[in-house]
Amino acid sequence: MADAAQLNSDPDRLLFAYWVPNVSGGLVISKIAQRTNWDLASNLRYAAAAERSGFEYALTQIRFTASYGAANQHESVSFSQALLQGTTTLKVIAAILPGPWNPAVAAKQLASIDHYSGGRVAVNIVSGWFKGEFTAIGEWWLDHAERYRRSNEFIRCLRGIWTAPDDGDGFTFAGDFYRFRNYRLSPKPVQQPHPEIFQGGNSDDARANGAEVSDWYFMNGNDLEGFRAQIADVKARAARAGREAQVRFAVNGFVIVRETEAEAVRVLQEIQGKADADAVAAFASEVKHAGASTGNKTGMWATSTFNDLVQYNDGFKTKLIGTREQVAERIVLLKSLGVNLVLTAFLHYEDEIEQFGREVLPLVRQREAEGRGKDAALEIERTGDVYQKPAS
Ligand SMILES: Cc1cc2nc3c(=O)[nH]c(=O)nc-3n(C[C@H](O)[C@H](O)[C@H](O)COP(=O)(O)O)c2cc1C
Repeated sequence: MADAAQLNSDPDRLLFAYWVPNVSGGLVISKIAQRTNWDLASNLRYAAAAERSGFEYALTQIRFTASYGAANQHESVSFSQALLQGTTTLKVIAAILPGPWNPAVAAKQLASIDHYSGGRVAVNIVSGWFKGEFTAIGEWWLDHAERYRRSNEFIRCLRGIWTAPDDGDGFTFAGDFYRFRNYRLSPKPVQQPHPEIFQGGNSDDARANGAEVSDWYFMNGNDLEGFRAQIADVKARAARAGREAQVRFAVNGFVIVRETEAEAVRVLQEIQGKADADAVAAFASEVKHAGASTGNKTGMWATSTFNDLVQYNDGFKTKLIGTREQVAERIVLLKSLGVNLVLTAFLHYEDEIEQFGREVLPLVRQREAEGRGKDAALEIERTGDVYQKPAS
């Protein structure tokens, strides 16, 4: 096992996160056998393995009811707190859905958790895509642009509450969705100026929020051109908002590392071949409320195929599928495009978090130490052609 502290000594290093399987069924909509569990005890093992292996972050999911399978779902903030209690260095990103949460509750909960954990909580503000979930719990279903406008206000309130000076008038805000009057939160979070705020999606609305109010813009799986276009667009928007230096980029990729590329591709084909067709079809129908519903159809899932949707955040498109060297090379290419964090998911969490830490992370660190991952033209020349091939 590589030593995490040694692996992670470079401050400009790429950061690594993994999706927490706090919903049942793993990270693929498939009937393939998976060594991945969704209960807390298993997740505490995965978190400990990730921490030992050099991962910096874990990302929880928020889901109030079944969708794409995911018949059981643990709540994200309490789950994040439980994982933080069982770890010492890992940062846990709690997913929060505006609507069920308001910014007062979220700011208070997360400030407390930041104290319990010694400053290791972060937040992912998700804007929702699942109409059935909202109507099932009596929440208004706003259209796409309005959902993101609400998330924008939510994030501004969160930041405002967390950073209002203790000796001032507190936080005051009059928006279309939220109102605050001289609100003073105490205690403030441990992390200064505040816990990191992630937010993602592919649509124009998500990009605008990424650029204007977030610390991190989360991208779903994509190909080379897709990532380049999104990063350039969000950077330009952030520059217009005077925030170019404040926005960092995170990308989702489903990882399958095997001894040979052929073996890894076979695993992908088995995952897709054993897809839970009914659940994928139901998911495909639900996500019409997401990106495809936007004016210019830039949103996530607008162009995804059946096989893409088997990983519900388009994670196969990123092509972290092959030998350890191939996957390390592609990760270095992502870094050269401006990616700061890679969000991973695996078929078999029981083994593959550690395997990734043992086999892939040291190769990435080695390449970074050699100065790789800085010259996009060079990295594209070495590895970029993989994204030209049609998806397996
Ligand atoms: C990394 C990441 C994590 C997400 N986690 C959740 C989640 O836990 N729950 C949820 O309902 N939506 C989640 N989403 C979905 C987004 O909020 C959004 O609905 C989706 O990305 C579609 O965005 P778009 O229409 O802007 O392209 C997540 C998105 C990303 C990129």
